[in-house]
Amino acid sequence: MMKVLAGNWKMHKTREETRAFFGTIGSKLQSSSVRKIVAPSPTLLETAVAASQGSGIEVFAQNISWAEAGAFTGETSVAQLFDLGVKGTIIGHSERRQYFNETDETACKKAALALDEGLDVIYCIGERIEDRKANRTHAVLESQIKPLIEKVLPELSQQSADRGALVIAYEPVWAIGTGLTANSEQIADAHAYIAQLLNQAKRPLPILYGGSVKVDNMNGIAKIAHVSGGLVGGASLEAAAFIALHEALLNS
Ligand code: PGA
Repeated sequence: MMKVLAGNWKMHKTREETRAFFGTIGSKLQSSSVRKIVAPSPTLLETAVAASQGSGIEVFAQNISWAEAGAFTGETSVAQLFDLGVKGTIIGHSERRQYFNETDETACKKAALALDEGLDVIYCIGERIEDRKANRTHAVLESQIKPLIEKVLPELSQQSADRGALVIAYEPVWAIGTGLTANSEQIADAHAYIAQLLNQAKRPLPILYGGSVKVDNMNGIAKIAHVSGGLVGGASLEAAAFIALHEALLNS
């Protein structure tokens, strides 16, 4: 399965900081077999696309509208992202679910639209701490991925699945930005369960782990079965750390 390193920059960086990031990356990662992605804020996308030329890093958005165009104040369409040279988008991140009313239904609608129009997708799922404490991790993961399996995967061609158009990110909500990485058993168990659900649908997909991934735990996490890489927030912001994360993933 293809390895993927995706940096979620959240609401960080200016245009100048974005250019500095790609200036340091240069062409150092250009030819590696790992698929490399950064997802900056909308105001940085055009700068990031220009600055990333020759770096081997693809630029993704952090969110899209489920509508194609029209009266949707504050939203960004797939066509507008294509216009900037953006290659894909994160969908269903837990911060979108927690603060901006993203649901499985809206996330699925967005994923279907993006994939249909040729924009790649990192689709995020993950349980909250109260789910885990109540032994509901599998039930939550299943409820989040079922709509995707039922509504989105049947429309996804094998060819686009093979080239990684759709990637799943398992991000336990309690591990995001908290410094509390899930342990190996928890990651192994969740990834095996998600892989099983995808395999039952005859659609194996790369599954990234996210939640306090750092330079020093990336390699160990990526060696766990059914882990194809990382969706990294805080630790992806500095170019030197991004390079080190890439190295750790490449060598896993
Ligand atoms: P973190 O964020 O690496 O800062 O925990 C991960 C994410 O939200 O994708």
